[in-house]
Amino acid sequence: MELMEGKKTSCKKLLTFMLFSFIFSFCLCVSFRQFKTSKPEHNSSHPFAKIAPAENTSTPPKSKHELTILLWTWPFGKRFNFRSCSELYSTPDCQFTVNRSWYHKANAVIVHHRDASRNTKGLAQATRIPSQRWIWFNLESPSHSPNLGAMDNLFNLTMSYRRDSDIFSPYGELQLLGQPQPFSIPPKAKLVAWVVSNWQANSHRVKYYQELKQHIAVDVYGQHHQALARDQLLTIMAQYKFYLAFENSQHEDYITEKVWRNALSAGTVPVVLGPPRENYERFLPPDAFIHIDDFASARDLARYLQELSEDAKRYERYFQWRQWLKPVAASGWDTHLCRACQFLQTMGARYQVVPKLSEWFV
Ligand SMILES: *[C@@H]1O[C@H](CO)[C@@H](O)[C@H](O)[C@H]1NC(C)=O
Ligand SMILES: *[C@@H]1O[C@H](CO)[C@@H](O)[C@H](O)[C@H]1NC(C)=O
Repeated sequence: MELMEGKKTSCKKLLTFMLFSFIFSFCLCVSFRQFKTSKPEHNSSHPFAKIAPAENTSTPPKSKHELTILLWTWPFGKRFNFRSCSELYSTPDCQFTVNRSWYHKANAVIVHHRDASRNTKGLAQATRIPSQRWIWFNLESPSHSPNLGAMDNLFNLTMSYRRDSDIFSPYGELQLLGQPQPFSIPPKAKLVAWVVSNWQANSHRVKYYQELKQHIAVDVYGQHHQALARDQLLTIMAQYKFYLAFENSQHEDYITEKVWRNALSAGTVPVVLGPPRENYERFLPPDAFIHIDDFASARDLARYLQELSEDAKRYERYFQWRQWLKPVAASGWDTHLCRACQFLQTMGARYQVVPKLSEWFV
């Protein structure tokens, strides 16, 4: 009897234990899954309203199923050939088209801002397909992006040079080299160059140049100045010690081909006028460029450039980072579009609207 009782209680204990362990492991499992699926909270200053997965219809397509992407207009009305994105990324190709008969079949529509800004009515009136994503695409600065207000509440994703775009499309990037490689500085016979086509007498950059040239010789190329064939740009700029990479307007992350292509790809040292130094340092090593804000005046900058040009050792320090890093300028519209193709295939299913585009893109 006693033995039986004992057996019964130990049986009870065992059952209770099993029940508890079951509940415990169940809880653990649930919380672990929650932990795995929970995403980092979005910065509250971020302008995009993001709502957790509401629909599962937009999971990445299966292999054979290429995404169709409609380009609403050719950027600036200029045609180009689409490229095969699978050569750039380890994701399948996308089917690009500018033929709007494909609108209803398109998984995404890419709208280039400048062209769309002229006729926003057509956009606002288009019938929306719930799973289709509209991508706002712009590489110009806010100062040169008219009619931004008309873009509010229309788009699901942004693609621009801003680092906080959904699809970040910078003017250039650094490639980390697997092995340190010596960089040979191109032979330099000339001092300072600037290429400018959009000459605005009252702009910050033209005023700064007017001041600078009082103290140091600057060769100016471009419209209204010395002619320069596009295919000559890199070889000519390579002969200069410094290149004035002066942006047409100052905005966060607005660091253009003036730095990446005209200066860095050519193998010269950019003297930058644009966003603050800290912003440049998010893209480039601190000793890859000279910032005009580092000097109290254009005269001080001129003196510094003169000194550097006469001191080979100090000048070479502006190239040391190149042992490890290679600047790569963005190569064209076709390549930018592939970023969207890749992004769409790897993004998770999520519903997203850009409500106040005009407040964010400033
Ligand atoms: C656009 O696509 C439709 C449907 O495939 C086709 O009939 C039409 O010819 C295309 N238009 C152009 C300009 O290619
Ligand atoms: C895309 O944005 C439009 C317009 O704001 C909205 O109606 C639609 O539901 C959004 N779609 C997705 C997949 O986020």
